[in-house]
Amino acid sequence: MCGIVGYIGEEQAAPILLEGLSRLEYRGYDSAGVAVYGGGAMQVRKAKGRLSVLDGLLDHGKALEGVVGVGHTRWATHGAPSDVNSHPQVSRSGKIAVVHNGIIENYVQLRSFLQEQGVSFVSETDTEVVAQLVDYFYEDGRVDILEAVGRCLRRIEGAYALGILCADASDRLIAVRKDSPLILGLGEGCTFLASDVTAILRHTREVIYLDDGETAVLTREGARCYDHLMRPVEKAVSHVDWETDAAEKGGYEHFMFKEIMEQPEALRRAILPRLRGGEVVLEGFGLSDAYLRSLKKLYIVACGSSYHVGMVGKYNLERLLRIPVEAALASEFRYMDPILDEGTLVVVISQSGETLDTMAALREAKRLGARVLSIVNVVGSSIARESDEVLYTWAGPEIAVATTKAYSTQLAVLDLLGLYIARRRGSLDAGTCREVLEEMARLPEKLEQVLSRRDDIQYLASQHFSHSSVFYMGRNVDYALGLEGSLKLKEISYIHSEAYAAGELKHGTISLIEPGTLVVALGTYPPLTGKTVSNIQEVRSRGGQVLAVTTESHREDFSHAAGAVITVPDTHPMLLPSLTVAPLQLFAYYVALMRGCDVDKPRNLAKSVTVE
Ligand code: AGP
Repeated sequence: MCGIVGYIGEEQAAPILLEGLSRLEYRGYDSAGVAVYGGGAMQVRKAKGRLSVLDGLLDHGKALEGVVGVGHTRWATHGAPSDVNSHPQVSRSGKIAVVHNGIIENYVQLRSFLQEQGVSFVSETDTEVVAQLVDYFYEDGRVDILEAVGRCLRRIEGAYALGILCADASDRLIAVRKDSPLILGLGEGCTFLASDVTAILRHTREVIYLDDGETAVLTREGARCYDHLMRPVEKAVSHVDWETDAAEKGGYEHFMFKEIMEQPEALRRAILPRLRGGEVVLEGFGLSDAYLRSLKKLYIVACGSSYHVGMVGKYNLERLLRIPVEAALASEFRYMDPILDEGTLVVVISQSGETLDTMAALREAKRLGARVLSIVNVVGSSIARESDEVLYTWAGPEIAVATTKAYSTQLAVLDLLGLYIARRRGSLDAGTCREVLEEMARLPEKLEQVLSRRDDIQYLASQHFSHSSVFYMGRNVDYALGLEGSLKLKEISYIHSEAYAAGELKHGTISLIEPGTLVVALGTYPPLTGKTVSNIQEVRSRGGQVLAVTTESHREDFSHAAGAVITVPDTHPMLLPSLTVAPLQLFAYYVALMRGCDVDKPRNLAKSVTVE
């Protein structure tokens, strides 16, 4: 996620902004910038790369004079990392500087509208639309800046935390919060805004947490807050007793847990901007309808958890598209002499966008004449740059080595791609597509329900953290999900684990089941729940313990067979993995905690595997 800092007070702003941004570096970023008003001018300095580059440009802040300003560390979503795409984004008059965290979903339409009004844009960002739109409504000072911001807010859609500085109103800063955290800090003769408390803990522990739809006007004396209708609201002042380390994790004990809990918000960012009128909308998508209709085969190629997304995709997309869909491990794909041609679309999935095996597979696919589309989290990463097409997951930076929110958003984007292609190939009717997308839009709130019952999963983990081996089994998408659950458990708890297709039990694995053996049975896919119940009985009859995961409507079926049952809300079958993965992530997290493992940095593992 991007990082925001703002200051208005009696001291020089630039050094305070730089120090605040340095406290946000943990969030991950690819560029940084500040805007400071002083000496009668708006001074903006921004640069791609590490904060140290900006710090050098500003001579540790001494190069800019002024006691009010905003700063930003950018994690690219719209527009590759570059100086011009860095924030603050400034309006054409040079009077409005904006820093932003989130996504403006309707920025394309608003940019067109403003261009029709003669506004020319310099960046590829959605954020510049906000700066230009505020300026448009500001009418060069004929409208009060707060009113101009209000008019802008009534036009933009999406998730945003904004810091706004107007050159003509340098005695104040404006802060806006909608679906993206933003807090105000109250100091002695100074006031701050920040995307999280770590940026300002050095200066104050008295904070105001803005709620969704609220706007605040910050002066050196304090802050006035307004609701979504611009009516004044009284806000409570909280005292922060976190230390910086805890604050970096948003108050959670580990990045992994924070990122598990961020999944609903990440899904909203990945899904909602791509839904419109019951159809999937992929802005700037370059694969033509004719090409998609001509497709003969799909290959999904990735490593680790991203490969497990591909396995779910194989089941879902083959059912949607009615053409062969293969999922292949990138490290195998590149040496298996795959049969590809111009009728094959290779979908490459990678959170980091730097995994060497996956990059090598991408190049092999292109060498063999296939088109390559990548689903990536890191904007401007190597895999993104070498693909013919890219769909970003917009999960935000993922710090924990064990992936969670990146996995979930990859699943969602792959499902959206499948629906998009199926509609163009005529293998999916508009009504069914609308139904699935309506269910997809509900996934974040359903996921929140699953996460709200995490204590139940913590209790189950306390019963099972001492096993030496744990098996995961399922059928169809549940088998693909079992692969991910098993990897999560073994990579952070160091317990041996394997996943297998439940139908394979009697073909070998059952020899390993002995009294006390734990099997996690995934039975969410409605057409096959009965068969999975039978497999559970086979395990129980040999003394094995079974922890079942199913949907609420199948709870009864599994309660009689399994020792314990975790349920997820019902949803469209192809979307079930997006909910079922959460209990598996939580189970692995709590088991690893109870075993005293380093959850965020498990032994021998790296966040991005850039070697063979
Ligand atoms: C998953 O928890 C692991 N961190 C690992 O399997 C990871 O998914 C794999 O290395 C692929 O990484 P990528 O998605 O960045 O390409």
